[in-house]
Amino acid sequence: MAFPKQVRLVEMSPRDGLQNEPGPVIATRIKTGLIDRLAGCGLTHIESASFVSPKWVPQMGDAAKVMAGITRKPGVRYSVLTPNLRGFENALEAGVDEVAVFAAASESFSQKNINCSIAESLERFHPVMEAANQHGIPVRGYVSTVLGCPYEGSIQPAQVAKVAKDLADMGCYEISLGDTIGVGTPLKAKRMLEAVAKDVPVDKLAAHFHDTYGQALANLYAVLEEGVAVIDASVAGLGGCPYAKGASGNVATEDVLYLLQGLGIETGVDLDKLAAVGDWISGQLRRHNGSKVGQALGGKC
Ligand code: HMG
Ligand code: MG
Repeated sequence: MAFPKQVRLVEMSPRDGLQNEPGPVIATRIKTGLIDRLAGCGLTHIESASFVSPKWVPQMGDAAKVMAGITRKPGVRYSVLTPNLRGFENALEAGVDEVAVFAAASESFSQKNINCSIAESLERFHPVMEAANQHGIPVRGYVSTVLGCPYEGSIQPAQVAKVAKDLADMGCYEISLGDTIGVGTPLKAKRMLEAVAKDVPVDKLAAHFHDTYGQALANLYAVLEEGVAVIDASVAGLGGCPYAKGASGNVATEDVLYLLQGLGIETGVDLDKLAAVGDWISGQLRRHNGSKVGQALGGKC
């Protein structure tokens, strides 16, 4: 299959990027500053917060304040994670454009991350889907641990396909396939994608690859060849999952953008502006900039 002509980048840094940041809770104004700057780069979909239990993920405890503090840019979709109906109701009150439910391909990860089995999680999502439908809010679905689990090791592509299909059947408009701990390699990513695409059309699939082993760009190249045209990424490579010890951040958005530009694929995102945002947030968090492209462009833009 040919590469897509256009890719939609879904920016993860305000949520996946910050949820696991060690130390004190990051000030709300830094989160809103990040989101507004990202919108200024031409990104049209920004996952901005999580309406989860603040006991489980303290860094996301100010989700409502974040949503109230951003300057909404027309044409930008501000989405959030919602694990249950309570999260959805809070998100709705905060005026989000879209929500996401999150399941896993591994039973152990499901238990550690959301304290229930895969089947129970899917049951829990039904009322969220129903309420979202009533309010005309689109729902995205995640499947975690698609290329490996921190507790169970390797994961069968058929298991990923099953959960992805369940989420699509329940009404998720798009399924994002998460290599939560960044252990995948290109052939594995391709095989997994092929298995899922038998049950869920490829134009409903997104790639969400963490970069723990430095394979995320190669894995993305493999699934782009299979027709995937939606990629989740995090500026400066921020992030990790609190319930997947040792996992590093999402692939850096700057690095993905540089790859896509080299392939002649349109995104509508300005690389220089994005690299400047990566530098800015790394400075705010006093953190090393995890984007190779951001480092290479540092000082030039
Ligand atoms: P639980 O303890 O089983 O649920 O947690 P519970 O119903 O017993 O509630 C526990 C407490 O949380 C109660 O408070 C509830 O009221 C409260 P208490 O009575 O103890 O004071 N609570 C809530 N508070 C605010 N908002 C809510 C909410 N729900 C309950 N929505 C639960 C179950 C799902 C809530 C919990 O496990 C949780 O919040 N987990 C979130 C974990 C998480 O956010 N993980 C990271 C995101 S997933 C990820 O990063 C992967 C992804 O990037 C893809 C990839 O990379 O693979 C998406
Ligand atoms: Mg993730």
